[in-house]
Amino acid sequence: MTSEADPLTLVLVGPMAAGKTSIGRRVARRLRVPFIDTDKRIVAEHGPIPAIFAEHGEAHFRVLERAAVAAALDGGGVISLGGGAVTDAGTRELLRQHPVVFLTVSADSVADRIRGGNRPLLAGDDPLENWKRIFDERRAWYDEVAGKTFDTSRRPMQKIADEIVAWRREQR
Ligand code: S3P
Repeated sequence: MTSEADPLTLVLVGPMAAGKTSIGRRVARRLRVPFIDTDKRIVAEHGPIPAIFAEHGEAHFRVLERAAVAAALDGGGVISLGGGAVTDAGTRELLRQHPVVFLTVSADSVADRIRGGNRPLLAGDDPLENWKRIFDERRAWYDEVAGKTFDTSRRPMQKIADEIVAWRREQR
């Protein structure tokens, strides 16, 4: 799937609050490669995500996100994508040549994790209902881009990270 020169690049996708950042950090540490969170890169370059959505809309955010994903893939490492990155056809195309892990999580387990966050798509009276609806809309895309799925609902993050490291090492 990947060339010998590939620096153990691995992409993590999945719904909001699936644990992409906390697990991604652990995986990167174990693989001894950089960890990149594309949301963080976007914020560093363009400012807070809620402001981008409010001022320019989601479609504009997806364009910035696609550019951030392309740059991250060029550099290599463990790359954590925002939950909606897979909605963009261009971003899905970029992922084709790389090992991608889908981190899934149950609605029960995610309820506590999404309280009080600053995710514009969850804003409103019922963040959990929004989260469920959005996940349902995107589930097929996560399955499409990913070579392997891990459920983060109930097991320790470190254990999941260890399994992802083992899976990634099998890919080369
Ligand atoms: C989004 C998820 C967020 C962030 C933005 C949009 C989405 O990332 O990119 O708020 O559309 O699901 P996380 O998945 O890290 O929360």
